[in-house]
Parts: sequence; structure tokens; C-alpha cells
Amino acid sequence: SNEKDKQPFKQRLLVVANRLPVSAVRKGDDSWQLEVTVGGLVSALLGITDFEAKWIGWPGVTVHDEVGRKSLTEALAEKRCVPVFLDENLVHLYYNGYCNNILWPLFHYLGLPQEDSLATICSFQSQFEAYKKANQLFADVVKEHYQEGDIVWCHDYHLMFLPKCLKEHNANIKVGWFLHTPFPSSEIYRTMPSRSELLIAVLAADLVGFHTYDYARHFVSACTRILGFEGTPEGVEDQGRLTRVVAFPIGNDSDRFVKAIQHPQVKNHIKEFEERFGGRKVMLGVDRLDMIKGIPQKLLAFEKFLEENPSWQDKVVLVQIAVPTRTDVPEYQKLTCQVHEIVGRINGRFGTLTTVPIHHLDRSFDQHALCALYAITDVALITSLRDGMNLVSYEFVACQASKKGVLILSEFAGAAQSLGAGAILVNPWNVTEVASAISYALNMPSEEREKRHHHNYVHVTTHTSQEWAETFVSELNDTVVEAQLRTTQ
Ligand code: G6P
Repeated sequence: SNEKDKQPFKQRLLVVANRLPVSAVRKGDDSWQLEVTVGGLVSALLGITDFEAKWIGWPGVTVHDEVGRKSLTEALAEKRCVPVFLDENLVHLYYNGYCNNILWPLFHYLGLPQEDSLATICSFQSQFEAYKKANQLFADVVKEHYQEGDIVWCHDYHLMFLPKCLKEHNANIKVGWFLHTPFPSSEIYRTMPSRSELLIAVLAADLVGFHTYDYARHFVSACTRILGFEGTPEGVEDQGRLTRVVAFPIGNDSDRFVKAIQHPQVKNHIKEFEERFGGRKVMLGVDRLDMIKGIPQKLLAFEKFLEENPSWQDKVVLVQIAVPTRTDVPEYQKLTCQVHEIVGRINGRFGTLTTVPIHHLDRSFDQHALCALYAITDVALITSLRDGMNLVSYEFVACQASKKGVLILSEFAGAAQSLGAGAILVNPWNVTEVASAISYALNMPSEEREKRHHHNYVHVTTHTSQEWAETFVSELNDTVVEAQLRTTQ
């Protein structure tokens, strides 16, 4: 791998993900404003620079007119992005429906939607048809931009059919697929009505990747139990054809965060925030407002902590940033109301004339303010019920070089496998356990804090997204070469 470090790849790469790293907002007939999008996948892939990479994905808006489509395509081209246009009805059935009302909750162990919520969107079958149609549209755009030798790297649960669509078109395309969510136990996965078709479509890829060994193992079990294929140490085999299955945990662009702390604007924010919080200890949560993030459970644990530790009541503040997401999906709307209700109750109960224990913000923050918040935090509280990886924990650690604060982390986040020794791991469903973890973290002696921080910091700064991408791509190249050798033997 040292050799690789010296000679960065210039492999051509087509990165295909549902969402582009920039979202478009229309400003006129042919003018567009592009904003960086929020989410783990985007924040990781933005750190990847050593490829000749192009992004293909949905720009996050519906554009009906030719003038708009043409001007947006041109604006995106400057960012090396290529749009896949989807109409409203398809977005509704494919994105709001099949992706975010069915696959997302199922893959995070929340089960299939209950009947009433299913009925509010549409029937399962029409959503599945829309999903396949959307995947085909992505494939069509890939075909337009594909050149021989390119690697096509498909991402996430939105695009499980893409490997199949691409290989049907041209069996020689090198195709990788990576899942950024957990892959659940086959006992959960097998409740999925379209379980076999989805697995077969993914297995068309040459290489399939997951964040943890457990997710990879669950996937292989699903293939053996549901399809009757063979699971081998290499992956999944059917009639002599092998799909390699691997676990490659993602990292982040830690350098960007480490450096950001020195930025004058970030330093100003740090001073400003420290003054505002006036010596109180700061606890921080940064999440998309999603049921998998366990925000209500976190708030209840914080309430219990305040209840049991009256002496802390005016000495600690919880800043919870909850970035709105998927707001057209009814479950997400319900969650917003629920969270607001709990925050209101706790602030009503423990607030004073001049202070409240929880600062809850329904919005995203710019990069500088966010880094400053990470830097002044004493305890980060990440209590996902399930989470593929969770890069917020990595961002927090990267910004903590001087403060050396404590990370409380759910054992159900993929990151628990890499930051487990430095973090305090908790079961987010156990409110009592989380409340005592908060107390433990706030009272932790500096020696233990520094030791724990050091462990995490070393990990975060040595496992970067660039390295993750290079490993996946070189593994994919090797896999294809090996497959060719096997067929010519
Ligand atoms: C998760 C998914 C990503 C997704 C992101 C934001 O991190 O793994 O694929 O882009 O959430 O969600 P959104 O629905 O807004 O794209």
C-alpha cells in the first residue's frame, strides 16, 4: 500500500449515488444556485480527490422544461456532476416510497411500514416498479458517459438494481456496489416482499462492499438462505460465478476538520460560542432528523440525567442540531412533532427565566460554525438506534485536538466497531444507562479523557475516506482480473 500512496490513482471513476454532492435551487429560467448536500455519503465522498471522478445522481429538484434541464446540466458539469432527472411521480414512489418508507426503515431494523402508513403512499408493488424504473434511468445516464476501462461505483440502497441494469447492457463494465446503511440480519431482511429480486440484482456487481463485517455476513446469509447460493470466504457463488463481498469501513476527510480549527472564522465562532454558553458544560448532538438517530430517546435520557442530578441543572446545556430531511415522508413529519413536544416539556420543566437546558435547532449549520461547535463541546451524544457508520462521530473527534472531550456512542452505529475503545458505548434504548453515561462523561478525570480521545484521534486521522476509496477501487480492479483468469483457465 506504500507504493499506492506514492502514486495516486488516476483511474477514471463514475460515482453513481441517488443524491449528487450539490443540490440545485432554481433562481431564474436558466440560473441555478448549487448548495453542498448534507449526509454521511456526501461528506465522505467529497474527500476523494485522487481519481478522475464524475458524479452521476439526482439533483434534488424536478425540472420539466428543456431550458432548465440544459442550464442545470451545464452548471453541474463545472462541478463534474451529471444530473439524472426524475419526474415528481417517480420521486414520490421511488424516493419517498420504496427507498425511504420501505428499504430505509427495514435495513435499520424498524421493520416494514404498518398498513395505514403504506396505504398513505401507495401499494408496495407500484413503488417497486418505480424503483426499478428509476434505477434504469440512472443506468441510461451511466451508459451515455461510460468509456471503456471506467469503473462504475454504485452507492447505497437506492440503487440495488443498478448493477444488474449495467451488466445486462455490457457485461464488461467493472461494477462495484457499496451499502452505506446496515444490512440487517436475514431474519429481518426476509420479510421483504421483493427480497430475491433485490439480492440477485446486487449480485450482478463484481464487488459488493459494507461498512462492517457483520453487515457483510448478514448479506451473505441472506443470499444463502433466500436464494440457496453458496457462501464462501470470498463472497457469494452461483454456478461458478463469484460476487466478491467485503467489509471496508469508510472514514472521513479528517484533515479538512483538523485544519478547519485553525481558520480565523472558526476561531471567532469558538470565542463567540464560549461566551454565549458562559462556562456551562456543552453537550452536542448533530443528526439528520431521522427516526434511526434515536433523538427522542436521547432527550429522555438527558431529562433523566437532569432529574437525578439537580446540581447539574444550570451547569450543562445540550445543543441538538436536527437537520430536516425527507420531509415528504409521513413518518418524518410525525417525528418532528414528537421531538418538539419532548424538547418543550423538558425546557419547561428545567428552564429558568434566562436559560434552557436544551437548544434544539431544526436546521443545518455552515461548515465553520459546525467545526466551532464540535471544538467547544465537552460531551458528544450520538445515540442512533441503528446507523450504517455515523461520520458525525469522526468529525467530532477530528475537531477535539485541544479539548479532548468525551464521545458517548451507540453500540448500534457502525462507528462503534472502530471507536469503541475510546468512546463510552451505550444501548440507546436503555435510558437509565445513557443517563449514567452522561454523568460519567461529565465527571471523567482528564487523564482518562485524554487517553480515550487519543485512541479515537489516531483512528480517525489514519482511516480516511481517500484510503477507503482507493482500497475499494483497487480491490475491484483485482477482482475483475481474477475473474478473467478463472474463465480463461
Ligand atoms: C444517508 C444515506 C445517503 C443519503 C443521506 C441523506 O447517509 O446513506 O445515501 O444521501 O442519508 O439522505 P437524503 O435522503 O437526503 O439523500
